[in-house]
Amino acid sequence: MMLIGCLLVLLTMNQVMPQAKRGNKVGLRTSHQGRETLQPGVEVQSIVPGVSSMNISLLEQSLIPTRSPLLGPSTEQKTSDDMRLHLLKNTLVTCNDGTTAGYYIREAKGSKRWIIFLEGGWCCYSKETCDVRYKNAKRLMSSSDWPKSRRGTGILSSRQDENPHWWNLNAVFVPYCSSDVWSGNVSKSRNDYAFMGSVIIQQVIRELVPKGIKQAKTVILAGSSAGGTGVLINLDRVASLVEELTADTVQVRGLVDSGWFLETKHGKSDCMDGAACALTDAIKKGLKLWNGTLPEKCSQQFKKEDEWQCFYGPKSYTSMKTPIFVVQWLYDVEQLRIENIQPDFQFMTANQWNNIQSIGRELKKSLREVPAVFAPACFSHTLIISSNWLNFQVKGLTLSRALQCWTKSLQERKGPKTNIRGCHFHLIDNCQWPHCNPTCPALHDPVTGQEVTLLQMFYRMSIENRRRGQEPKGDMNQLMAMLRNGG
Ligand SMILES: *[C@@H]1O[C@H](CO)[C@@H](O)[C@H](O)[C@H]1NC(C)=O
Ligand SMILES: *[C@@H]1O[C@H](CO)[C@@H](O)[C@H](O)[C@H]1NC(C)=O
Ligand SMILES: *[C@@H]1O[C@H](CO)[C@@H](O)[C@H](O)[C@H]1NC(C)=O
Repeated sequence: MMLIGCLLVLLTMNQVMPQAKRGNKVGLRTSHQGRETLQPGVEVQSIVPGVSSMNISLLEQSLIPTRSPLLGPSTEQKTSDDMRLHLLKNTLVTCNDGTTAGYYIREAKGSKRWIIFLEGGWCCYSKETCDVRYKNAKRLMSSSDWPKSRRGTGILSSRQDENPHWWNLNAVFVPYCSSDVWSGNVSKSRNDYAFMGSVIIQQVIRELVPKGIKQAKTVILAGSSAGGTGVLINLDRVASLVEELTADTVQVRGLVDSGWFLETKHGKSDCMDGAACALTDAIKKGLKLWNGTLPEKCSQQFKKEDEWQCFYGPKSYTSMKTPIFVVQWLYDVEQLRIENIQPDFQFMTANQWNNIQSIGRELKKSLREVPAVFAPACFSHTLIISSNWLNFQVKGLTLSRALQCWTKSLQERKGPKTNIRGCHFHLIDNCQWPHCNPTCPALHDPVTGQEVTLLQMFYRMSIENRRRGQEPKGDMNQLMAMLRNGG
């Protein structure tokens, strides 16, 4: 009954809801049925032909990207490509298939600031899963087809309007071709794959010495998705290396985008089939295959067989000494998938809705003690290298602004808790409902691809729930108030 009352109010509010009439299409479109945009402008198709979902997890399917044939080669971008590929001089440091790893760079000669970005794209953790990945997403395992150049976007952009705070720094993009969440340290033997993620990062930094990283004042190690988790795993070791190579005044920081995962609460405990336990299961198997190197301080806290926990942000964070900034959507769709929830916006059940809310609450709780956070209450995944990253705000601030505030506070060495007036960087949405932030990216119907509003979602949910005699829990008055205030 309450829900129907709620719907009436929602209907009358249709006119004033920013959600309902947003016109700006979001490149970072929330993924459904495995469609996902890992890079702006590159639509990612993940249907793996000939492979049933019994032997490849949904999570994995969703993160096996290949270029959409519709887009073709990126010829029209040629003129604005500003980062150039350098394969590593040390050819022993390789991608999975033994081809030499590398990096893209745009140098800013006058700048002593550097950002090194680690690409994401899930992982593989057995001969079988790696073979499938090699067939469907070769560029994530081999440098053989990498383009000579690429355009820096979002936080890597050289355009002041796209990247107001950091447009003029030395920008490095490290493609992910080790499939090991950037943790591995094992060379290729005759029949097997190499997994050298942690070695690639170290080697890239060493080879940046002739490019001037010795003179750096600040070095930011950033990454999205698996790259974000890679930052958590590698940051302290990278900080030691950078300090060894440069003047001792250098400041190293981490920027973790959509790589702060929570352990599964709602997934099944039997990990044999599909997405339920995919992450923990994959990580456990993978660690052995990759000979994964974890942060020493973190792994010391666990028994050898429990070291995998260091892949989870809340577990590794407490033992890290280098400052990090965490960017995480409160309703990260990959986190939901790990929890066995396909965020299907067409028919969401009350049960799903309640689980989603509880995941959001857990995530908030896990970030409470982290000083530097940007966590919008939206369904989405990855942010920092999206061209439209400035569209999203928490408490009226963009991530770019929050990063500027964070940098300022670290430079002034007043400790991370200090907020300069109006310049905040602990930004977690307060509203209780998924997708309640008015700047959230548009949701799309998984079948038709059409935009779905929160209103429509509630409407469909109520029909579905009345059929099943369920009602979602939660305080409707709070929802009302939130919608009236525009989030
Ligand atoms: C996955 O399943 C399909 C059909 O069930 C089968 O043809 C394929 O060989 C399997 N792949 C692997 C890697 O087990
Ligand atoms: C795995 O790493 C350890 C420590 O770095 C090393 O001693 C060992 O030889 C490695 N194993 C393989 C198979 O490379
Ligand atoms: C990789 O392993 C070797 C020894 O097996 C070790 O010397 C080296 O420090 C490791 N590198 C990384 C980045 O973990």
